[in-house]
Amino acid sequence: MAVSLSHGLGSVALRVDDLSKEYRMGTRTVIALDHVSLDVGTGTFLGVVGRSGSGKSTLLNLLAGLDRPSAGAIWFGDQNLAALRSDGLARHRRHTVGIVFQSFYLIPTMTALQNVAVALAFAGVTSGPRRERAVELLGLVGLGDRADHRPAELSGGEQQRVAIARAMANNPQFLLADEPTGNLDSRTAEEIFVLLKRLHQEGRTIICITHEKDLIGQYADRLVTLKDGRLAAE
Ligand SMILES: Nc1ncnc2c1ncn2[C@@H]1O[C@H](COP(=O)(O)OP(=O)(O)OP(=O)(O)O)[C@@H](O)[C@H]1O
Ligand SMILES: [Mg+2]
Repeated sequence: MAVSLSHGLGSVALRVDDLSKEYRMGTRTVIALDHVSLDVGTGTFLGVVGRSGSGKSTLLNLLAGLDRPSAGAIWFGDQNLAALRSDGLARHRRHTVGIVFQSFYLIPTMTALQNVAVALAFAGVTSGPRRERAVELLGLVGLGDRADHRPAELSGGEQQRVAIARAMANNPQFLLADEPTGNLDSRTAEEIFVLLKRLHQEGRTIICITHEKDLIGQYADRLVTLKDGRLAAE
């Protein structure tokens, strides 16, 4: 008998159900996400596009467990993030997802290897195998020969690769990226997409926000567009 990984979701890795997010600004309310529903199949590479202010980062932050919805549900398997307390959300961030941002957020005083090793420590890897695993992760992103470089001694593309290696420290099923190529030229951007595609082909579900609509079309197997906090027709 086939065993489903997620109760009732079958091949759906992630279900967003009638999700809304409002930000209160004094007396004003900004509706950043407005009743969004979306199923993402296991092993999908989903591209998310849309104009500035359309709610892309808001959606990603909710999927990452960095923020809470105002209404609706986010199902990862049989777990609804909207129902989790902060310790549950921390567990989600630590075990289920890897997150990559436009700014690389590397620790400037640490080498590439140390930046990855810190994440491994958070993921519970003991100090013994940590170094070896960090070297392995840097190899995975093509930076085996840059392990001892500090961020200032790396190009933007290389820094983003370190950040991706760091995001892979907990071997997440999901990789969530918010404009990972936003600070990079188009050729370097393409290299990052190639890397994401490879991580996707290894079986991960990838959700990538981008402004590179032409480029992402070559790598993602599905594109959705947000417009004023709503999903536009596909
Ligand atoms: N913390 C916040 N407090 C109040 N309003 C916010 C907050 N974060 C986002 N917003 C508002 O919510 C809307 C959606 O913002 P969001 O950052 O999700 O857009 P985005 O699609 O990621 O845009 P960009 O492409 O510029 O990154 C915007 O109108 C924004 O001003
Ligand atoms: Mg954004």
